[in-house]
Amino acid sequence: MTDTPSPNHFDLHAATWDADPVKQARALAVGKGIQSQVPLSPRMGALEYGCGTGLLSFALQPQLGHITLADSSEGMLAVLNDKIAAKRITNMRASKLDLLTDPLPPERYELIYSLMTLHHIRDTDALLRSLHALLTPSGYLCVADLDAEDGSFHGQGFDGHNGFDRRDLAAKVESAGFRTPGFTTVFSMTKGEGSAQTAYPVFLMVAQK
Ligand SMILES: C[S@@+](CC[C@H](N)C(=O)[O-])C[C@H]1O[C@@H](n2cnc3c(N)ncnc32)[C@H](O)[C@@H]1O
Repeated sequence: MTDTPSPNHFDLHAATWDADPVKQARALAVGKGIQSQVPLSPRMGALEYGCGTGLLSFALQPQLGHITLADSSEGMLAVLNDKIAAKRITNMRASKLDLLTDPLPPERYELIYSLMTLHHIRDTDALLRSLHALLTPSGYLCVADLDAEDGSFHGQGFDGHNGFDRRDLAAKVESAGFRTPGFTTVFSMTKGEGSAQTAYPVFLMVAQK
């Protein structure tokens, strides 16, 4: 596990993250998509990668066994831990983890999901290989993220991916060892006003190991 003390963008925004109704609605919409496409069960152990304050996991938590919520941001994990304690939830555990730099943890999961995190990970292939290794045989991978966009979602200075072309991502997912990736559109965000308004659809990709 890493122990980087300097605050990053996400540390600084953690305290106000949940005040944005779009982030709340996005997590609920992705949760519904996962619920309708994956046979969730209390026998499943799950990993959320890039969990932030845990919005998506709080939506899925009643239907799952235990959930490990992993993120590289200390600030996000602090907010998450406060929420888990306040809601007295016993099947969710926060974990500081960056799979690009930390060793693979020993646990294995029946389900891994991630929301709006993949576009922040430069080495998509390496992350997909790690997620594949962390799944049990026939385990499910669910990734929700932006469709390919022109860079206007984050604006100048962003050094991640400007969303993903679905066919390119499907090829990456298959080459990491997953079967039958399928895509649906589960949410859409907008930025700008009037004729300058731009829509940013969010896909949910579900694949199996
Ligand atoms: C856009 S936020 C999404 C948070 C949450 N999934 C949501 O939808 O509200 C991206 C999250 O990914 C985390 N993240 C970015 N790079 C990461 C990495 N290499 N390893 C783990 N988490 C990472 C950030 O700290 C942040 O919490």
